Amino acid sequence: MGIKFDESKRIFKLDAKDTSYLFHVTDSNHLLHMYYGKYVEDTDLYYLLRLGDEKFVPAVHDAMGPHSFDCAPLEYSTSGVADFREPCLQVMDKKGMSACEIQYVSHKIYDGKPKITGLPATFANKDSDCQTLEINCIDKHLNLEVVLIYTVFNELDVITRSVRLKNASDDTIHIRRVLSTCIDFDTIDMDMITLQGTWARERHVQRGKLRHGKQSVDSIRGASSHSLNPFVALVSPDATEDVGEAYGFSLIYSGSFLALAEGTQYEKTRFVMGLNPYDFDWKLDPGAEFEAPEVVMVYSDEGIGKMSRTFHDLYRNHLIRGKYKDVRRPILINNWEATYFNFDTDKLIDIARESADLGIEMLVMDDGWFGKRDDDTTGLGDWVVNENKIKGGLKNLVEEVNKLGLKFGIWFEPEMISPDSDLYRAHPDWCIHVDGRKRTTARSQLVLDMSRQDVRDHVYGQMKEILSSANIEYVKWDMNRQITEMGNEILPADQQRELWHRYMLGVYDMLEKLTTDFPHILLETCAGGGGRFDAGMLYYSPQIWTSDDSDAIERLKIQHGTSLVYPVSTMGAHVSDSPNHIVGRKTPFKTRGHVAMVGTFGYELDVTKLSEDDKNDIREQIIEFNKYNELVRTGDYYRIGDPFANSRFDSWMFVAKDKSEALVEYIQVLKVPSLFEHRIRLKGLDPKARYKDEETGNIYGGDTLMNAGILIPKLHGDFQSHIIHLMKV
Ligand code: DGJ
Repeated sequence: MGIKFDESKRIFKLDAKDTSYLFHVTDSNHLLHMYYGKYVEDTDLYYLLRLGDEKFVPAVHDAMGPHSFDCAPLEYSTSGVADFREPCLQVMDKKGMSACEIQYVSHKIYDGKPKITGLPATFANKDSDCQTLEINCIDKHLNLEVVLIYTVFNELDVITRSVRLKNASDDTIHIRRVLSTCIDFDTIDMDMITLQGTWARERHVQRGKLRHGKQSVDSIRGASSHSLNPFVALVSPDATEDVGEAYGFSLIYSGSFLALAEGTQYEKTRFVMGLNPYDFDWKLDPGAEFEAPEVVMVYSDEGIGKMSRTFHDLYRNHLIRGKYKDVRRPILINNWEATYFNFDTDKLIDIARESADLGIEMLVMDDGWFGKRDDDTTGLGDWVVNENKIKGGLKNLVEEVNKLGLKFGIWFEPEMISPDSDLYRAHPDWCIHVDGRKRTTARSQLVLDMSRQDVRDHVYGQMKEILSSANIEYVKWDMNRQITEMGNEILPADQQRELWHRYMLGVYDMLEKLTTDFPHILLETCAGGGGRFDAGMLYYSPQIWTSDDSDAIERLKIQHGTSLVYPVSTMGAHVSDSPNHIVGRKTPFKTRGHVAMVGTFGYELDVTKLSEDDKNDIREQIIEFNKYNELVRTGDYYRIGDPFANSRFDSWMFVAKDKSEALVEYIQVLKVPSLFEHRIRLKGLDPKARYKDEETGNIYGGDTLMNAGILIPKLHGDFQSHIIHLMKV
């Protein structure tokens, strides 16, 4: 494993666990991509380049001999030099011209992985986990240094890429676009899988055949968004959960992004991913550097399921940080759907008292505890406790809750400001706005300019005071709108287009400060439900609120889609009321528990109003959660059902890393009459081992369970659930 450079053939070979990635440095010092896929032993794959074969394209670039840029598999595409496909890099010089071309100069290979300044990124736990290659290139005309950075993980099929630029000239230049990865695949015969949705319906899976021309997913909203996630998988047409090839790409960034696949005239595909070039420009003064975010690339030769499990392992072990990285999270109850804005100290203590009796471990006080906020039209920005509601003050409330045996958590929306707030009256210029234009509100709020240090200092100062004033052990960081009228009155005209990225750097700066100053706090990020569920956020918060839709049946699709990339241990999932507040669907308590158990687990309902039966269900759910959480959090996740393809059922399972134990969950979505017991085939078990079904006492071979399958007992009614716990004997 690791990275090699064949000096004589000028070929770089990057080997991750079972993956190889090769590219060549031509005599003209251009970088040509050769191969990305399953591990191969050979280094000399020069023949794959088929240089000089493209008879129909004029040889437009001398340096490339008979080979045109437009048909060359480029390792990193640049704009305006006879490659007419999607460019990754475009830089404007002082004359306003933007042709750009990079050539290899030198390289270095080292153990470990560098940080990216101010940005989230995967990391090595020890240097021997991975190796890094930095290729130093130059655009001689601009005197721009371009460093292509690759890291291979030895134990995972993961290669990461990012790019660093340095202006080595004496003139200011402008970066017009800088994407982080470019792969020129040798085929167009692939399907593209993306995650689409909207509020309360996030990350639904869509799959389509790649076509000639450009197909993309993106965000220009200033957040990764509910509608499209910064993730793409390109898979072989035959790929299923278990077979076929899958290339997964995930961007570690939470703002506007672009991921684009382009089917070309030669039946090949270019894939690029990174910062969205839309409305982007970055002024780079002489000597200045710019670092682009990281793209994680996962290769699987065993279908989409293995791709997901690789992402899960990487993100659990090399992205998530902090006290809660590897431990069971407290079972929380959040008062949002129980009370909305209508609560006070007494109500919260009532909820806490009842919760303590049921075995719940933490009370989270959601929106409405601060400033003047009785609905969503006022108060954001005034992070001062409203003692009309929180009678006796916050410290007293937290102490009372602690006395009941519960931890205490609190909600903030730090990036926002209500026009009706003391903060806005004092600083109307602190929000993002274009002077003289209408300031578009969404949910009656505006966005604070997080690129400004003074704004961040003020908001963080208030948060810090609150968090230091009582024993607070959890924060929910919410963000409930997207950005419009991007502008501020600080940056000069030629830097206004930097704001989209500066905003994100500001948010990350504050998140880093929060997690450094309060390392004991469990942070859960959120954006109107799952509007910023991305790998960037996972670097700071080990869990993210998956969706405001907590209906167990809607969650099947949302959690299935989310699990394509993100570990189930990161998905905020709660048992909420029935009928569900968003869809009005009635589902059994048991099913709601089983679906929420796939995520971080908690409750979001008024426990003081529950029947004794429901309370007993909660007690049982908590016993089950405690019993299985270690396996759910740390095991391998296998999707068995597909809620997008089948309306009858969904099913998934967790298998311990040592294959000693497995948990199968089955949801009967719609009861179909006159059928036998449903037989499902299990996955990931040790074929040679024997497993005992804890409930029935039946013993099966692992190979039997995976090939012949297991029977799900007949369940009566829609929305029923069943679990099977298997132990190796
Ligand atoms: C949106 C979140 O997704 C909800 O859980 C809740 O915190 C509300 N915001 C509060 O305004």
